[in-house]
Amino acid sequence: MKTDFLVVGSGIAGLTYALKVAEDCPDKIITVLTKTVSDETNTKYAQGGVAGVTNFDNDSFAKHIEDTLIAGDGLCDPKIVEIVVKEGVERIKEIISWGAHFDKDNSGEYALGKEGGHSEFRILHHKDVTGKEIEDTMLAAIAGKPNIHLINHCFVVDIITQHHLGYLVTKSTPDIECYGVYVLNLQKNKIEKILSKITLFATGGNGQVYRTTTNPSIATGDGVAMTYRAKGKIENMEFIQFHPTALYEAGVSGQAFLITEAVRGDGGILRNKNGDAFMEKYDVRKDLAPRDIVARAIDNEMKIYGTENVFLDCTKMDLEKFIHHFPNIYAKCKSIGIDIASQFIPVAPAAHYSCGGIKVDEWGRSSILNLFACGECASTRLHGANRLASNSLLEAMVFAHRCYVESVKKINSIEFHESIRDWNAKGTIAPKEMILITQSLKELQLLMTDYVGIVRTNERLERAMKRLDLLHDETEQLYQTTSVSPQLCELRNLITVGYLIVKSAQFRHESRGLHFNTDYPEKSDLVQNIVL
Ligand code: FAD
Ligand code: SIN
Repeated sequence: MKTDFLVVGSGIAGLTYALKVAEDCPDKIITVLTKTVSDETNTKYAQGGVAGVTNFDNDSFAKHIEDTLIAGDGLCDPKIVEIVVKEGVERIKEIISWGAHFDKDNSGEYALGKEGGHSEFRILHHKDVTGKEIEDTMLAAIAGKPNIHLINHCFVVDIITQHHLGYLVTKSTPDIECYGVYVLNLQKNKIEKILSKITLFATGGNGQVYRTTTNPSIATGDGVAMTYRAKGKIENMEFIQFHPTALYEAGVSGQAFLITEAVRGDGGILRNKNGDAFMEKYDVRKDLAPRDIVARAIDNEMKIYGTENVFLDCTKMDLEKFIHHFPNIYAKCKSIGIDIASQFIPVAPAAHYSCGGIKVDEWGRSSILNLFACGECASTRLHGANRLASNSLLEAMVFAHRCYVESVKKINSIEFHESIRDWNAKGTIAPKEMILITQSLKELQLLMTDYVGIVRTNERLERAMKRLDLLHDETEQLYQTTSVSPQLCELRNLITVGYLIVKSAQFRHESRGLHFNTDYPEKSDLVQNIVL
């Protein structure tokens, strides 16, 4: 198969890009691949909303920029922050023009929410299901485009580069080029080759590397792992954001239901086992301090009291307003027997967002020629050491646009590489036991949670690395000898992601933003991005 533009991912990043390219280049073919179904994305689960300056009476670009820089703890690239904050307003107008509805108040103005680290109310939202509104809008918008081919159940396995022409490709090879991808077509159960002139990775996050995460099961860091295997550059992987308030349900692991930070923005208060509001002990901004601070404070309270969770107290909030703004959360709590008007909601931190990823420049170009990346899988240096809440949907739209602008400029100068060999599955056999994969996945998630969580130490990182080495060797052996399956590919990718997180964490000899190592508790004067 051949396509002019290949888009891997159907979340906000991939679909925004596909739509723009399709409108600008009606004579070109754009193929969008997803590994399951088109709306199963991190995007669909976004709750709080999209941060952006839309009310210039109280708010300003300068304030949003400053809030982003403060949250990022000295590691954001100020130029990128300015680009995203300023261009974001245009992108918000665009998505509204494509049909996304954001809530308005009685006077017809946007009803803006507030989350941790924001100095103003500036979050546009659609109740507490903003992501679903965006995902549905984008899928409807691309459905009308005859030159966009959306193919579900196509698992991208690897990037095709000069390596597949028989050349030795290493980290120091100049001009590594992307010629397309190998994909596991799950309808045909066959690995196919897709040649593309330009490839965009919009493959989302990697929350599944931890035992409990707000991310759905698709979030296995495939794009990052594939880029690393193809010898592309990956950066700042140690900055994994733990959302402070995932719903705690005893015995439940995997995807946890999120209680949006906007609940705290509207008056929700965190309380410990004794019912004490504890955030004032940790930060003057209390419950609305940036996420890294709140998650660490919760972690500390849980350790002090030996509990698995703390509580979010919404009992003093106006019930009618709560139900109006957060109908999904209200219904979820009710479904498990929690009456938010009289009972506290049990919450605990859960892996939520990857601030690092595929290193890209200000136009979304990765270090591999003709491979672009945007959305959560990319590292643009907007978020620095800690992402400001609700900045990721904004970043995804801004960078999807920038990738579109740059790739459309290039497309006519690129030819297909016809001489790429087909996938060679000789010598592999069907896997005998799934337990080899499922048990390794459990081990991986457990070791990452226990050794590479909110608080890290040198010893824990060292232990994690030793165990990752073993899992890596066993899984590679399995990969070389058995036929490829999504489960095996995901395990392999998650082990790579785990390795990248631990390695980056080991290189960072300081505590900054989301990376807290008790052996280096202070922030260093040396401001550096870790590139692997
Ligand atoms: P995704 O939306 O995750 O899409 C990834 C796509 O890649 C999927 O289509 C998947 O099938 C495809 N894919 C991945 N690997 C492969 C492969 N190997 N082969 C083929 N296809 C593949 N951010 C905000 O700004 N505001 C919020 O309010 C907010 N709330 C959130 C709430 C939750 C519960 C979660 C989980 C995240 C939230 N975020 C929020 C973060 C934000 O939703 C994500 O960062 C963003 O949606 C990521 O979009 P994306 O397009 O990069 O990737
Ligand atoms: C939330 O709604 O709390 C999540 C917002 C985000 O991750 O940006």
